[in-house]
Amino acid sequence: MFTPNAMRVKRSPIERVSALIRQDTINLAGGSPDPSLIPLGKLGEAYTQVVEEYGAKAFFYPGAGGLDELVEQLRGWCSTLEIGGGEVVVTSGAQHAITQVCAALLSTQDTYIHENPTFVETMNSFLYYSVQGEPVPVDDQGIRTDILEARLKARRSPPKLLYTVPTAHNPSGVTMSEERRKHLVELAHKYGFTIIEDDPYRPISKPTRTLYSTSPDDVVYVGSLSKALAPGLRIGFVVTTNHALAEKLKDLEQMDFSTSTVNQLVAAKILKSGLIQSKLGELREHYASKMHLMLQSLAEHGLKPVYQPQDGFFCLLNTNTDVEELLLRAVRLGVAFVPASEFYFDNSGQTNIRLSVGPVDKSLIPEGVNRLTKALNNNEQA
Ligand SMILES: Cc1ncc(COP(=O)(O)O)c(C=O)c1O
Repeated sequence: MFTPNAMRVKRSPIERVSALIRQDTINLAGGSPDPSLIPLGKLGEAYTQVVEEYGAKAFFYPGAGGLDELVEQLRGWCSTLEIGGGEVVVTSGAQHAITQVCAALLSTQDTYIHENPTFVETMNSFLYYSVQGEPVPVDDQGIRTDILEARLKARRSPPKLLYTVPTAHNPSGVTMSEERRKHLVELAHKYGFTIIEDDPYRPISKPTRTLYSTSPDDVVYVGSLSKALAPGLRIGFVVTTNHALAEKLKDLEQMDFSTSTVNQLVAAKILKSGLIQSKLGELREHYASKMHLMLQSLAEHGLKPVYQPQDGFFCLLNTNTDVEELLLRAVRLGVAFVPASEFYFDNSGQTNIRLSVGPVDKSLIPEGVNRLTKALNNNEQA
């Protein structure tokens, strides 16, 4: 009934776990930001102002590529975050941006390299267009560029794309070191492949140099307001020096008429007010301190994550047990995590789980880890 492409797109483990979360579950699973940091009052005011200022036009079709108001603000946002300049195309989040970039650049026979583990949901976009993905392992410094280089040397032709999440990686939590960043862009330049730099955690993590600013012609940058503002607005963007690509992305947006006009205008208003720019330090500090508490709580129970993240939302834990059974026990005990096996593309990581400090209230992290430990010890007594 379904096309082979559609058959390759599966419901992610994150979606599966979301369905199990009850009101009293401590959510160590989600990738949403902390609800206490979503500026509800300012968002409400911005919606009111947009309706007053634009009237019915705020609810017209948006037009391809993004409204001028938002594109202008995103240029400023790129300069605040030292992303680098280029043509900006507005998308419905980073997820949509990646789907569109894959639609523009990836044919069935094209090979792409990605980190292992990697973010399972963006992988759907790659897999939809091509099954020729090749995983390269990650360590505490980011993608193993030494292994990548050896593979590139052995290949007859270069891959078309390389997909990376260099900052506060999902799911490992690792931020790629300066040295690896430099090596990675050198390899892209030398072997002639394009890097897709997926960077939604940049606004909430320790500042790093973007791959894009190091070598703009070798990198397509993908940004998002989901983590610093609100994921439900669905505002992301692509930055590229490639005019033809920017135009093609706009052509492709005629297939889905993205991105919501009113949400673009609201995002433009919020950016123009300087609200999130003024809170960047607070956001970074907030998530770094939650991550610190998560690592500390794990250590108190003798648990050591696979990598040692400094900030961002995620860390991985090897449970050495059947993760699906563990999840059922954990949910009964009132804590949720994401089984991480589907973030791996070489059958490793089967007993790993992804823990998140994103949406959970900081004060609940120690109890969340406590409940997780009980589930691990097969001790369901509360
Ligand atoms: C690495 C990565 N890329 C992309 C996305 C999707 O972000 P957006 O909400 O901007 O579509 C996420 C969301 O969790 C993510 O972690």
